[in-house]
Amino acid sequence: HKNEFVRVVEVGPRDGLQNEPVNVPTDVKVEFINKLSGTGVPSVEVTSFVSSKWVPQMGDNSEVYAGIKKQANVSYPVLIPNVQGLESALKCGVKEIAVFTSASEGFSRKNTNCSIQESLRRIEAVINEAKKHNLKVRGYVSCIVGCPYDGAVHPSSVTKVTETLLSLGCYEVSLGDTIGVGTKQLMKNLMKDILDVTAADKLAIHCHDTYGQALVNICTAMDFGIRVVDSAVAGLGGCPYAKGATGNVATEDLVYMLHGMGMDTGIDLRKLIEAGRYICRHIKKQPTSKVNNALYSE
Ligand code: HMG
Ligand code: MG
Repeated sequence: HKNEFVRVVEVGPRDGLQNEPVNVPTDVKVEFINKLSGTGVPSVEVTSFVSSKWVPQMGDNSEVYAGIKKQANVSYPVLIPNVQGLESALKCGVKEIAVFTSASEGFSRKNTNCSIQESLRRIEAVINEAKKHNLKVRGYVSCIVGCPYDGAVHPSSVTKVTETLLSLGCYEVSLGDTIGVGTKQLMKNLMKDILDVTAADKLAIHCHDTYGQALVNICTAMDFGIRVVDSAVAGLGGCPYAKGATGNVATEDLVYMLHGMGMDTGIDLRKLIEAGRYICRHIKKQPTSKVNNALYSE
């Protein structure tokens, strides 16, 4: 692994803040994203253009996107559920979007009010439009090992929907353990199934840490060649349509682990800790990142 590069995708401003009960002012989100951009992380998911009736926390999407300082070497993807969302995002001049579906029917219905098949039809329409504007499109598959409504999810369901997203034009698909129920063995089973048909460099891993297994599961995915990892600074996050799901793996913990393995992320851990502290002061929470708590001093 020595000196290998791992691309970290910071999802705190979207996956983290979409689930916050505290109203975070737009200028705080903007400052938070600017601080994240300054850490060296290559990608920051800024916001989502979903229905504000469903997720009011992301209702200031256009203002946030317009307000942030865009650094040339950083990507700023936004989450898009349908063509209506894409149209709003295009008005802001976005360059990269992320589309999302699920490996389980129950979650698809609760999260997007439609079946997996219908969500794939919406995604196809979004991608066709996005291509006309030369946008990069990332894909997400939720519930890769378990679903809060349907229970265990078979690897073949994940592989199938991942292949569909890639064939529709996603450059990469991020595999989401939405409720953090994955274990090393379940992750191995999934990797074997999916890598039979999909190349590792088309995949990313997105672990929520509900059961404290995220770093182990990420390492397992990395053993199979995956080199793109999603995380949220301070361990922010959760999904409003996955009850009990806690935050994403903390970016500080991930970066500490990767640097300890001799891998390169381009990220300055000290600056990352400061960015985590900044947002936690505003949402009145302690970071759940153990590394942040261990290394931070007032
Ligand atoms: P729906 O209610 O079925 O949609 O929601 P609709 O087409 O019937 O529209 C209803 C209303 O919403 C209409 O307004 C639309 O205009 C409006 P009204 O006529 O009532 O005034 N609307 C929109 N407004 C703004 N932007 C839009 C938009 N679309 C419709 N894009 C919909 C369907 C998909 C829109 C809804 O279910 C939704 O927004 N869902 C998103 C839920 C969400 O954001 N979940 C969290 C993100 S996914 C996640 O966290 C998982 C991930 O992290 C990976 C992992 O961990 O697994 C990615
Ligand atoms: Mg997530």
